[in-house]
Amino acid sequence: MRKSLVFLTGFMGSGKSTLGPLLAERLKYDFIDVDELIEDIEGKKIVDIFREKGEIYFRNTERKILIETVLKLSRFVVALGGGTITFADNLYLVKESGILVYLMANPEVLFQRIKHKTDRPLLLDHHGNVLPEGLLFDRILSLLKMREPFYLQADILVSTDEKSVEETVDEILKKLEGKIA
Ligand code: S3P
Repeated sequence: MRKSLVFLTGFMGSGKSTLGPLLAERLKYDFIDVDELIEDIEGKKIVDIFREKGEIYFRNTERKILIETVLKLSRFVVALGGGTITFADNLYLVKESGILVYLMANPEVLFQRIKHKTDRPLLLDHHGNVLPEGLLFDRILSLLKMREPFYLQADILVSTDEKSVEETVDEILKKLEGKIA
């Protein structure tokens, strides 16, 4: 059966929120960003949810919103959070409901894109400051290593290194042909 949900996964900085709206427009789908949905529903920034309630609370909330809201949509491109499919059986639920696209990027590229960002709680120290560059790079490497086995189970893999956003969207569209309604 052809599906009508396209999920974007990949590490923080891989381009999910940038590519998502463009891909949705080309497919004549709507776009939704799970992080933004969590922030709207909780009335708080993700960094504050992590600080005040911890990661487990965040993961449970993310999973609840995925199941109760996101998986019920159709004709949507969904930007997942970078860790969504690594928790509980979210990967299975996502793959069952739609086509999962992994936006691949090498660690150096990710590092350059996220090194000044203060809104990614997993990349901050205990005081909420961005990690020093060496530690940040090590953190990216270790998280990527843990997550790749999940990411690589996506239905479509697309490298984003050395490609414009438009080229990446074109490649995804080509790979989606015949797979979605
Ligand atoms: C996370 C990625 C973030 C956000 C949260 C946790 C992760 O989303 O969900 O900070 O575990 O990789 P982006 O991938 O959109 O930055």
